[in-house]
Amino acid sequence: MSDIYLKLVNTPVGKTAAQSLGLPSPVPLKRLKRADQPFIEGDVLVGAGNGGKAISTIGRVLGASAATVHHASGKESLEDSSKAGNKAQALDLASGSEARFSALVFDATGLKSPDDLRALYDFFHPSIKKLGANARVVIVGQDPATCRKAPQAAAQQALEGFTRSIGKEIGKKGATANLLWMAPNAESQLESSIRFFLSARSAYVSGQVVRIGKSEDAPSTNPVAPLTGKVALVTGASRGIGASIAETLARDGATVIGLDIEPAMEDLEKVTNAIKGKALSCDITAADAPGKIADFAEKHFGGLDIVIHNAGITRDKTLGNMPEHFWDMTIAVNLTAEEHMNDELMDRGLLKEGGRIVCISSISGIAGNFGQTNYSAAKSGVIGYVEAMAKQAKNNFTINAVAPGFIETQMTAAMPMTLREAGRRMNSLSQGGQPVDVAETIAWYCSPASGGVNGNVVRVCGQSLLGK
Ligand SMILES: NC(=O)c1ccc[n+]([C@@H]2O[C@H](COP(=O)([O-])OP(=O)(O)OC[C@H]3O[C@@H](n4cnc5c(N)ncnc54)[C@H](O)[C@@H]3O)[C@@H](O)[C@H]2O)c1
Repeated sequence: MSDIYLKLVNTPVGKTAAQSLGLPSPVPLKRLKRADQPFIEGDVLVGAGNGGKAISTIGRVLGASAATVHHASGKESLEDSSKAGNKAQALDLASGSEARFSALVFDATGLKSPDDLRALYDFFHPSIKKLGANARVVIVGQDPATCRKAPQAAAQQALEGFTRSIGKEIGKKGATANLLWMAPNAESQLESSIRFFLSARSAYVSGQVVRIGKSEDAPSTNPVAPLTGKVALVTGASRGIGASIAETLARDGATVIGLDIEPAMEDLEKVTNAIKGKALSCDITAADAPGKIADFAEKHFGGLDIVIHNAGITRDKTLGNMPEHFWDMTIAVNLTAEEHMNDELMDRGLLKEGGRIVCISSISGIAGNFGQTNYSAAKSGVIGYVEAMAKQAKNNFTINAVAPGFIETQMTAAMPMTLREAGRRMNSLSQGGQPVDVAETIAWYCSPASGGVNGNVVRVCGQSLLGK
């Protein structure tokens, strides 16, 4: 369903009316147009607090991009910014430069105590007003869980509140802010996440904190088709978010098996035929489903590299009025079936080395929702499952979740008008997301270069005001 308000407010008359009435003025988000589009262009300012360990990686990744890179200078607290390498030109922040930045990238891994937080102010205070529309802020810190000393943990945890607040301040420009918390010595795992969070692929992801751990060295991948040679299963692929996931993974080079229930086969085949994939008719809650799926994957491809548990249903009723089959079905489709499928694939050794599993949670699983005790319980359960399984992964596979907020699909088109309008506007970007926003986030998790990204729950919600 199209967002008429977003279109209206971006006409000259609509813009003036919205401003004078104090109504939100969402900026249309720039999404990826071509797979070979540079991940970032324009002027990018990088900086580092003293002792930053990620600045040379940031400098290298950006040095190979289409952007013009500047490093902050002029403040003692930012001296290590020069370690971004000689492709970055020094820019004195006090100079009143007229540059308009497409991104600000800051390495905060060296901050050891709350006093060091001053470097954030020194870097962002003079630069934040120079962010252009649809710009990106990416901050790299050290995961506080790995900090031995309390002052260091305090400084690193402070980055979370800082990043989320920046996201709320710059959302009106269609810009996003995200935080990458890396484990010590995990610099080699940063590249795929820096690229994703600076790119148009993450247009609707803001205010998120991603933990990046150590892993095998990230392989260099074909940036246009990183999933070449991989086989992916996508459940619920006949429409909505699932269809977009199938198309996006195929765009990135994967061969896709789309799965859906029998009544959806005609739509499913349209999706899979267009991407030269295979269609599998299966109700994932049936007792024989795990075996049927595993047999299919084994027979046609000898196993799977990527499993995306997208199929989901809602059966809303307040708890006192909820029939028991509403409860049972919702838990079965959204949660139990995923566990059974994974068990079967792993028991039979059909998830290949370096495999990727992605589950779909929901903002309802984080914040709860009226009339959705069943759905919210299932989607919260997904988070618990992903976090526990990630600990067992031991570099053999990764498992992560996405938690979509308000995404424009048939599911949300069916909502009452006032609730739908509230859902669209109650986020920093004042608009709903598109299925492709969820799909791009999943494609980043699935990249062979994202081995250090494990056990995360990234919300694709435009930084919704609901929940954490
Ligand atoms: N749309 C949103 O705003 C939103 C928000 C948060 C989470 N989500 C989650 O994202 C996922 C996709 O949502 P969507 O909006 O595209 O939903 P949708 O209803 O458009 O698509 C869901 C798909 O799952 C399939 N499916 C349902 N039960 C199945 C079963 N037993 N076996 C196999 N396939 C089955 C359906 O046939 C359908 O094709 C779901 O897990 C949903 O809970 C969506």
